[in-house]
Amino acid sequence: MSSLAAQLTALLPSATVLEPGESTSAYAHDESLLGSYPPHAIVLASSASDVQKVLTYAQSMRLPVVPRGAGSGKSGGAVPERGGIVVSLERMNRILEISPADGVAVVEPGVILETLQNAVEDQGLFYPPDPNSQAICTIGGNLAHNAGGPRALKYGVTKDYVLGLEAVLPTGELIKCGHRSWKGVAGYDLTQLLVGSEGTLAVITQATLKLIPLPRRAETLLAFFSSEDDAARGCQAVFAAGLLPRACELLDATVMQAVSGRAPFKFPEGVGGGLIVEFDGLDEGVMQEVVRAGEACQQAHALDVIVAQDESQRRRIWETRRMISPSLKAMRPDKLSEDVCVPRGRLVELIRAVRGIGKKHGLLTACYGHAGDGNLHVNLLFGSPEERKTSAAAVDEVIEAALSLGGTITGEHGVGMAKRGFVTRELGGEQIALQKRLKAAFDPHNILNPGKIFP
Ligand code: LAC
Ligand code: ZN
Repeated sequence: MSSLAAQLTALLPSATVLEPGESTSAYAHDESLLGSYPPHAIVLASSASDVQKVLTYAQSMRLPVVPRGAGSGKSGGAVPERGGIVVSLERMNRILEISPADGVAVVEPGVILETLQNAVEDQGLFYPPDPNSQAICTIGGNLAHNAGGPRALKYGVTKDYVLGLEAVLPTGELIKCGHRSWKGVAGYDLTQLLVGSEGTLAVITQATLKLIPLPRRAETLLAFFSSEDDAARGCQAVFAAGLLPRACELLDATVMQAVSGRAPFKFPEGVGGGLIVEFDGLDEGVMQEVVRAGEACQQAHALDVIVAQDESQRRRIWETRRMISPSLKAMRPDKLSEDVCVPRGRLVELIRAVRGIGKKHGLLTACYGHAGDGNLHVNLLFGSPEERKTSAAAVDEVIEAALSLGGTITGEHGVGMAKRGFVTRELGGEQIALQKRLKAAFDPHNILNPGKIFP
């Protein structure tokens, strides 16, 4: 055993300390494919007190500490790039309380999102944030990256459901911020600052989350268009009809081609774009909304509109959405996947810009995702190492296009390692300097997830 692992083991009788090796290789990377960086030791914490001890120790030794949920992140946020200690919160996975009276849940960070969703839905309550990795991702990771998902369109993202946090500062102190009531404005809002701080300011050890009543009905349609531009206009038409769907997901021509043979639907001749639109609510009114959205799509020149007639058809529509990523991989072995976000009114321009960038570099591109809130997953598909290089250059242009349309470099996946080269372009030097001063106030020796977010 290394001396670091031995010291941590002695310090943490209630935690498990692991050393880097084959069986722990998962802790060296996340889902970003930005490389594998084995840490010097891995601590599976069992309590906030374990986390406090690790940080106090690391602080005295000036060792990097990287907090980790399930490692399903897409921006390198949980990658121990500089070695040091990975603190995994996976064992702190208890739902401590679900209170229908207060409309809150109190959870530890290692709870799997889907486990929480199922538990609250059993009681007629709803926790809306729904990143596609919900079956494996943890609340802690969702909090660190302020995760979104299709339902963010109507319900907002993770931060909109965080009332209070317990967290350990890099100096080892335990703080409690926020409140259990649905409102509260005392002092600076540190709760909202910690959410989305990508594990660079504190390690979250408990969260008080807001729960709302579960919508009893959800109705879904799949609209086919002859082009992706028409699909984007269809999305606008739904809003122009005075409707707010809970999800409005776009699929471009490449995506439609990629999924067409595999999807459980026969796509119409000449299809070049698709839109999944979903509504939810209490009663029959939901069906009226979906029918109106279908009419809006038809007025926006949809080739065809399928309204799911039952739960299994609904599920098949979402299955089609979930098969996008693997289907694109079948077209080209690799892809760079971005998550730029623009104001909704600029969607057609973004799609056009991406098409132009692909054409210019001779690359196949694919756009899909959360069109309703302007957040598209722009994918650059490639096979050869040369194409990979070209793709990286093309990413730069995609980022530039999003920024020039008044958008952001990342709508939901976070900066991490993936976007830190671009972050100054969006935030500007002065804001970066202020953000670095904030980081230093929390973490004077830069031990907590060092190197992430900042250029
Ligand atoms: C999605 C992930 C990639 O929306 O954010 O599928
Ligand atoms: Zn997404």
